[in-house]
Amino acid sequence: MSPDQFYRSYSPRQQASARYPNQQSMTSRAPASNTAPDGSNDILSAYRINEQPYYRPVADEIELYEAAYLVRMPMMLKGPTGCGKTRFVEYMAWKLGKPLITIACNEDMTASDLVGRFLLDANGTRWQDGPLALAARHGGICYLDEIVEARQDTTVVIHSLTDARRFLPLDKKGEVIHAHPDFQVVISYNPGYQSLMKDLKQSTKQRFGGLDFDYPQHEVEAEIVAHESGVALDLAKKLVQIAERARNLKGHGLDEGISTRMLIYAGSLIQRGVDPLAACRVALVRPITDDPDMRNALDSAVTTYL
Ligand SMILES: Nc1ncnc2c1ncn2[C@@H]1O[C@H](COP(=O)(O)OP(=O)(O)OP(=O)(O)O)[C@@H](O)[C@H]1O
Ligand SMILES: [Mg+2]
Repeated sequence: MSPDQFYRSYSPRQQASARYPNQQSMTSRAPASNTAPDGSNDILSAYRINEQPYYRPVADEIELYEAAYLVRMPMMLKGPTGCGKTRFVEYMAWKLGKPLITIACNEDMTASDLVGRFLLDANGTRWQDGPLALAARHGGICYLDEIVEARQDTTVVIHSLTDARRFLPLDKKGEVIHAHPDFQVVISYNPGYQSLMKDLKQSTKQRFGGLDFDYPQHEVEAEIVAHESGVALDLAKKLVQIAERARNLKGHGLDEGISTRMLIYAGSLIQRGVDPLAACRVALVRPITDDPDMRNALDSAVTTYL
């Protein structure tokens, strides 16, 4: 992966900038100098979340996270896809007033992708901090999404930043970054997808506090779906019932149940005037299974509940 491709993958996402219009437009690469693109000294200004993201607390996760941040405990968010982990981190970054640097982990990612590298330009070579170094140097929350997708030899570079040492050696540059006091590492993963080949080392796991996430309880999930898609609460409740039916089939023909994210998609289509049955087929049923019997079972659940 070229550096530019990589930096695009961790730059503030399209989705985030759409939701937070005050946020600066995306930069294709990390700022390399001590001046932000807008000329200010806030190097991480592009990563600040200026508008409050909508987050509906499910239990005491906000208080627990705040306490963890106070002692700069690295945090691990576990839970199925589409249940609110990313939204939670965005909300916490906004609440704590800290920039959020998100890295979508993948198996091609190298330690240099995280830490930084020398780049060639017209004036010779210059060092460019990677996203982890950037967050550590300037005090951001560094969110490593789907951490288990990264190879273990890459993941270990976070070790010295996630224990009492809180430093990051830049071997190629001959520099050691002592983490900014505001810096914190957050990782997320979906325990359901783990295989023995793709698990975190105990020495990585034991550097983190853990918060479990799951699909919210019925009433709360309906409230979220109604808020995010704009459908009436009654309809949102019916969509949640369909999801609950599918979630019961997990492990009995379905790898994963219907997520909150999918319900919001379905609700959004309905809200745009799409026939509810068609919307549910498109947004809830077709993506999660190719098995004809399972599709029929889910289609009839849709018909029953709607
Ligand atoms: N508690 C919540 N409050 C507000 N919105 C929520 C909540 N939980 C889920 N959502 C909604 O569900 C959508 C999906 O959540 P999110 O993207 O955070 O999932 P995720 O757990 O990060 O999934 P993945 O593991 O696939 O990245 C969000 O965009 C948001 O609209
Ligand atoms: Mg996510």
